[in-house]
Amino acid sequence: MSEQNLFKVTIDNITIDVPAGTTVLQAARLIGGQVAPPAMCFYSKLEGSGGKCRTCLVEVSKGSEKDPRPMPKLVASCRTTVMDGMEVKNITSEKVLDARAGVVEFLLLNHPLDCPICDQAGECHLQDLSFEHGKAETRYEFQRRTFKKHDLGKNIQLHMTRCILCYRCVFTADQLTNQRVHGILDRGDHAEIATHIEKSLDNEFIGNVIDVCPVGALTDKTFRFKNRVWFLKPMDAHRDCPTCSGRVTLWNRGDEVYRVTARKDQWGEIEDTPDGKPGWICNTCRFDKKETSDWIIEGPREISRQSVIAQGHYAGNIGTTKPNETFKAVNDGRAPHLLMDIHDESEVNQPNIHLGKIQGPSRGDTFNTNNTHKA
Ligand code: SF4
Ligand code: FES
Repeated sequence: MSEQNLFKVTIDNITIDVPAGTTVLQAARLIGGQVAPPAMCFYSKLEGSGGKCRTCLVEVSKGSEKDPRPMPKLVASCRTTVMDGMEVKNITSEKVLDARAGVVEFLLLNHPLDCPICDQAGECHLQDLSFEHGKAETRYEFQRRTFKKHDLGKNIQLHMTRCILCYRCVFTADQLTNQRVHGILDRGDHAEIATHIEKSLDNEFIGNVIDVCPVGALTDKTFRFKNRVWFLKPMDAHRDCPTCSGRVTLWNRGDEVYRVTARKDQWGEIEDTPDGKPGWICNTCRFDKKETSDWIIEGPREISRQSVIAQGHYAGNIGTTKPNETFKAVNDGRAPHLLMDIHDESEVNQPNIHLGKIQGPSRGDTFNTNNTHKA
């Protein structure tokens, strides 16, 4: 691109040159860190996304070099393209922080606070947003919305009460599959994700709606209630898949594969493959390949230190090889007085029981000797 097509934009006092046509949000992401506004509905890999949730509002304090007047209202950064000489305030604007707190309050009006049982907990964008901008209490006194249950088929679970109507899953179905069977039905506070009438979502690429959903409205039925994401070890892996890129993240505990997802970048979006295409994955890789032997493991996935998933996730070889330190070496040179193997004694955690294959949470009867969950 020639130099005259580059626009200078200053966001939170940091100046950057970006090609004409770049949105304020994308320019802020190029700067990175806290300067990038949160985005609950925009998804750079989905055409037409953005403009729904208003979490990405910013203040334009100078319109451009030619017309320096500030914009009268806060604007959605995912839908506003930069002008040459534009000056934008994100975290340096009181107005923006105040508006964002208001947006979070609105998003949480009907959203249930069921994080303790929600599979998305630990990787939920709304949870992060509430933590950073939310208030401790609600001013809403009315009953929250409830919905009739819709079954979306054998792989995808819909929890409509958690949905924030971002439309990402609708764009995903439109752009990755040849026939979209779900959408947003009705209007206003009756609007809901559903199929017409009671169809199942079974296109080979439809599982990607789980990865794009910013909250726990669409979750993986093969993983539901099996484990918390912060107890799992994300590992990069690939397989020679005839349908998709085959590049995934395996979520393991020990040698068991609990969940398979596409690889995500620092913005929580699908990562590109080395040939520059979005790394969407197919249903076979996501739902059916749950054995370590199905995959070629590349190594532990880098996890941001700020993420709750980083707790218990050690960089290095843990997860692929056994640690070789002795007990003495990790215990300040002190040898233990007594070591007891409680597994022999109590017969808990029987290695012949494959927790990843249990339908639902494990209970006492899971460990009965005549159980059917053998590896
Ligand atoms: S189900 Fe998820 S991805 Fe779809 S509109 Fe609701 S929040 Fe967005
Ligand atoms: S991310 Fe911009 S409006 Fe939702």
